[in-house]
Amino acid sequence: MTRHQFDTLPSFEGIASEKWEHHHGKDTLPMWVADMDFPAPPAVLHALEARIKRGVLGYTTISPQYKEAVAGWMSRRHGWTIDPSWLRFCPGVVVSLSVIIRACTSPGDGIVIQPPVYPPFHAVVEDNGRELVLNPLLRREDGTYGVNFAELEQQLSDEKVKMLILCHPHNPVGRVWSREELKRIAELCVRHNVLVVSDEIHADLVHEGSFIPFASLSEEAAARSLVCTSPSKTFNIAGMNSSNIIIPDAKLRAAVTAELKRISVGSISALGHDAVIAAYEQSEQWIDEALVYIRGNMEHIVSELSRHAPEIRTVLPEGTYLLWLDCRGLGMDDRDLYRFFMDKALLQLSPGSAFGAGGSGFMRLNAACTRGTAEEAARRIVSALRELRG
Ligand SMILES: Cc1ncc(COP(=O)(O)O)c(C=O)c1O
Repeated sequence: MTRHQFDTLPSFEGIASEKWEHHHGKDTLPMWVADMDFPAPPAVLHALEARIKRGVLGYTTISPQYKEAVAGWMSRRHGWTIDPSWLRFCPGVVVSLSVIIRACTSPGDGIVIQPPVYPPFHAVVEDNGRELVLNPLLRREDGTYGVNFAELEQQLSDEKVKMLILCHPHNPVGRVWSREELKRIAELCVRHNVLVVSDEIHADLVHEGSFIPFASLSEEAAARSLVCTSPSKTFNIAGMNSSNIIIPDAKLRAAVTAELKRISVGSISALGHDAVIAAYEQSEQWIDEALVYIRGNMEHIVSELSRHAPEIRTVLPEGTYLLWLDCRGLGMDDRDLYRFFMDKALLQLSPGSAFGAGGSGFMRLNAACTRGTAEEAARRIVSALRELRG
């Protein structure tokens, strides 16, 4: 069998990789932190090598080429035309969320999130003294999720509620919100004068259907959206600390710009600058190939679990490289469930309870790994369950 470019695990030793350095014991496979177990795309590595060779690592600005690279990607990949002047650099999406909350709402304002959701969504609201308004997703019989629109409408009609943070595609449940769903959300937000922060960091990791940027829906939607985007998940360059906020409305853009200045968010790193350009301009084929490979991993795990571990239910996500495992059939509390995966299956996964309402009894598995790791993970779960059954 020919070896695939993604079959080889790079060495993670001694480089302070968050996922690999802290994994508990050599035998445990870390499948938690959301980055890939693959080297970054060759074009990105070449660009970084070229920069290092020059030896120039001083202060760096957001160049016109950088902005064009981001705008070009949005247009080519997602059919969304943006003016490069709408873009603001920020060193990370979570920082961006915090900046936007501080710039566009006031202490005590209500902000809606839709759990189970990426844990920092809870923290950025509460840590900035805003009130968390929970609009939990509805879990359907088939294991997929939808929005509770009736509750959302009620919540948005409350004058105190000023913002909705949308996770699109949704981490951890893997939904890529459809045009119809996005339109309903936009209509409600327009009607009740609520801003939408659309976290689109997983936008390029889509397996089924197509991704629709929230702000591309209509002029009305664009006028109230702040879109957080980043090449970090797509090209596995989270350590480059480079992300972008795209804000079509001039007033909102000015508010965010002022907040970025107030807290002295600096400019991009020299390496981040070149990496982002090489990623967006030269690595499209790489992500297309990575997506096919990751999809293969997920299909393998889902099929093995459905055949040999029916107590754990999971479905293929429309987007992201994350599998959301419904382990409630095991009848364990969250602590025992985490320990079962760590100590019996020897897999370090993210506990669902960390994702808030609706997460208890679930575990999240990161499938952006080598095929060998994916196969081993499925084997370990199946054999740990056999042992448990006795
Ligand atoms: C929805 C979502 N937003 C933001 C982030 C993190 O972004 P950053 O590392 O740029 O802060 C993640 C990482 O998993 C995520 O899933």
